[in-house]
This record gives sequence, C-alpha cells and structure tokens, in this order.
Amino acid sequence: MSRFVLVTGGAGYIGSHTFISLLENGFTPVIVDDFRNADERVLNGLQQISGKSILCEKVDVCNASSLAIVFQKYSFTGVIHFAAHKAVGESVAKPLDYYQNNLLGLINVLKCMLQFGVKQFVFSSSCTVYGEPQGLHEVDENTPKSFPNSPYGYTKWMGEQIIEDTFRANPELKLMSLRYFNPVGAHASGLIGEFPIGKPNNLLPYITSTAIGRQAKLTVFGNDYATPDGTCIRDYIHVMDLADAHVKALQFLQENELSAVEIINIGTGKGSSVLEIIAAFETNCEMKLNWEFGPRRPGDVTEIYANASKAEKVLGWKAKHTIADAVKDAWRWEKYYECLS
Ligand code: WQD
Repeated sequence: MSRFVLVTGGAGYIGSHTFISLLENGFTPVIVDDFRNADERVLNGLQQISGKSILCEKVDVCNASSLAIVFQKYSFTGVIHFAAHKAVGESVAKPLDYYQNNLLGLINVLKCMLQFGVKQFVFSSSCTVYGEPQGLHEVDENTPKSFPNSPYGYTKWMGEQIIEDTFRANPELKLMSLRYFNPVGAHASGLIGEFPIGKPNNLLPYITSTAIGRQAKLTVFGNDYATPDGTCIRDYIHVMDLADAHVKALQFLQENELSAVEIINIGTGKGSSVLEIIAAFETNCEMKLNWEFGPRRPGDVTEIYANASKAEKVLGWKAKHTIADAVKDAWRWEKYYECLS
C-alpha cells in the first residue's frame, strides 16, 4: 500500500515538524508549498535531521491544474492540509487574500482527492473557531463554534463547513479537522523552527526575537484581564506534540471507518498566562527579557484552553512536552537561525 502522504504547506512551521514525525513513523511525506510563507532553507534542515532527500513540489495549492499534476505523480494514501495564510492581524487588513487563498486552496485539494480517489484527509483547523467562548475557558469539541474575531478565523470556520458538506456528499471519504491551540517551540535539534518572516506576530517568537536583539522590547498586550495575573491565558502546545497528533490522526483514518467528520482539539489541556510564559523563558533560558505592559490588542480572547480528552480517547494521543521544553527549544532555534542569517 502506498505510504505517500501529501503535506500541503509542508515547508511551513507546523508542516515541517509534521514532515519529520511522518518519516519517523514509516510514511513517505511529499511537501507541496509555493514558499510564499516559507523559507527554502527549511529543506536543508529536514535533510540534516532525516538524512534523506526531501520530496518537495513547488506548487501553489490555488493552482488546480498544477496540484492535479502532483496527485497524478504520486498515489497518495492521505493528505494533511496546512497550506493557508495564518496571521490574524494581516487577515483583517487583507480579507480577500485570506478568503481566496485559504478557501480556494482547500477546495482544490478536496476536488483532487475526489478526482484521484484519495480518501484520508486531515485539516489544520484552529481554536479560533471557538471565538470568545461565552463565559467558558476550557473548550471541548461540543462547545458551540462562536463568531471568530478575524477573517483568518472565519476561513477556518468556513473550512470546517466545507469539509462537513463534502463528507455529506461523499461519505466514502475519511475526513478529520484538528483544532490547534497555540503551537510553540521547535525540533530539539534546533535545525528547524518557525522562520521569522517579518515581525513576529505570536508571543514566543516575539520573546526569542527580543532576547536575541532583533526586536528592542516585548509589549505585553494588556494587564487588566479577568485572570490571576491580569494577562491573557492560552493553551501553548509544543509543535512536536502537534506533529505527532497528525501521525496519530492518519493512523486512525487508516484503521477506522468514519460515519462523520471527526473534529478533535489538539492542546495540552492547561492554560498559561503571558507573564508565566515570560517567566518560563527567563528561568529556563537564563535570560532577562526586556518587556513592558501596553494596551490590549483588539480581538484578543481573555482565556481559552483545550479539553483534550477526546484526542486521548480517540487517537491515543496526549501532549508530552512541557512549557520549559518549548521555551528552551524555541531559544535553541532562535540562536541557530541567527547564525543562518
Ligand atoms: C498569545 C497571547 C497576546 C504577542 C494565534 C492565532 C490562532 C492560533 C495561535 C493558528 C495573547 C499576547 C502576543 C506580543 C503579547 N494560530 N502577546 N505580546 O492570538 O492566542 O493565537 O496563534 O491556528 O489562530 O490567533 O497567539 O501568540 O499572538 O498571542 O502580549 O507581542 O500573547 O495578547 O494574549 P493568539 P499570540
């Protein structure tokens, strides 16, 4: 049976780490990426870690004919679809780019799967679909999807709907949406990580970028939230745990028939505040960080973290890495990237 797995956006942060986990579990992953939001140097890192040549097709998933040629070339056993724009703030400024890229890319992949008889599909969704869960902090898969607070969030919300409707029309497909919380950290080798393209949006890359001197100071967006220390709380999950969850998801799809689309939270089940992440970095990386409080960032949710029991029950998956692992791995990558630049 074919072990080829299509990894769209596989040159990106989560995609590249999942690529390694797939290789380590006997799959043959093939990257499809247009490198608009990825750095080609990630391929060197993947080669150094795996010791293998990297199968990669430089293709835009929004180009249906080019994507079909890739499906023709490999007989894929499954698809993991990461390719999408993912910066919340940017999506507010460029909504049409986000809707076109994120939704057309998904539609093209699903249409190719139907055309070429590929049945197993894992979608990179997001906790953003929960919006600001009314009065809730811990969310499970039955928590009603609220109104996302950005066009990016709506592309994930609509993406899940497109997948549901596709399943209803094609029940022979095995479709799964994984709702990520906040991915952080890097592969322990330090050879791959989140390539900082432009100014970092997310908290931990901004911390390490400040510590290395690329940013002058970290601003903590708000200290008057209804949380123990006044700063927002999130479920920060190590990217290697997230990568392993995708392998478990594919293995589940291979071994089971589905009567519905499976939707699964992928988080640690624990929330950490902004100040706790800063403290973890300073303690574990023995660095003093230059930061100050600033105004709230529009659209920020006060507190959200996963109820991750379904992932453990259905996939047999549970996060293993700690926040200390994540900040150390992120810092190792930041220092390595500094030498690359
Ligand atoms: C976390 C906390 C900020 C930067 C985003 C996406 C979400 C998902 C995960 C893909 C917040 C605070 C941040 C800074 C700060 N991505 N912060 N200063 O917004 O929770 O989620 O990444 O699926 O879709 O929206 O992540 O890291 O930007 O923010 O104080 O310079 O850190 O206010 O409280 P977020 P984040």
